Amino acid sequence: MLNPDMLRSRFDPVTGEIAGARAVRRHLSDLRGCFADSQAYEVALAAGNPLIYSVGAVEPADGEGDLHYGLGLLLPGRIGNEYYLTKGHLHAWRPAAEFYFGLTGEGVMLLEDEATGESRIVPLSPNGVVYVPGCTAHRTMNVGTTPLTYLGVYPAKAGHDYSAIAKNSFRCVVIERDGKPAMMKRKDLLK
Ligand SMILES: [Fe+2]
Repeated sequence: MLNPDMLRSRFDPVTGEIAGARAVRRHLSDLRGCFADSQAYEVALAAGNPLIYSVGAVEPADGEGDLHYGLGLLLPGRIGNEYYLTKGHLHAWRPAAEFYFGLTGEGVMLLEDEATGESRIVPLSPNGVVYVPGCTAHRTMNVGTTPLTYLGVYPAKAGHDYSAIAKNSFRCVVIERDGKPAMMKRKDLLK
């Protein structure tokens, strides 16, 4: 039986905090291997180890048809030309889709079809909702100058699989080019 206290939660879209929920905080040192420009990463890390993002989750129940949500806060910044980003993941239960609701700031989501490798970028901004289909790796970038916050709603049984991304990374990166986000192949950036 669901605890009635879990029927409502409150979050702060500015701080990215959910009342009563613990957030996972990722600093630059936690993101080794995520940025394409490893030299720029090492230079930035030598200068400090800033918070890059935090994610809190509300998990009212874990049954077959239940839902969870996560609240993300991603700070603005770049490593080389690449925007600050989240590690990104696939869902452990691959068919699980997800809705992302933009709350504050300007972001972009990188979506990569696991089977075909086809990649696309989709804006994530206030009053916009991004649909992440199943079997799709997804990562978020802050492409603005203020904190990006967003809600992700997903099946309780989706789970998170970070290992496939950690092993092969995303095929594409999102960089700033002429003041705007642009997607390019990781291997082309490294040339
Ligand atoms: Fe997800």
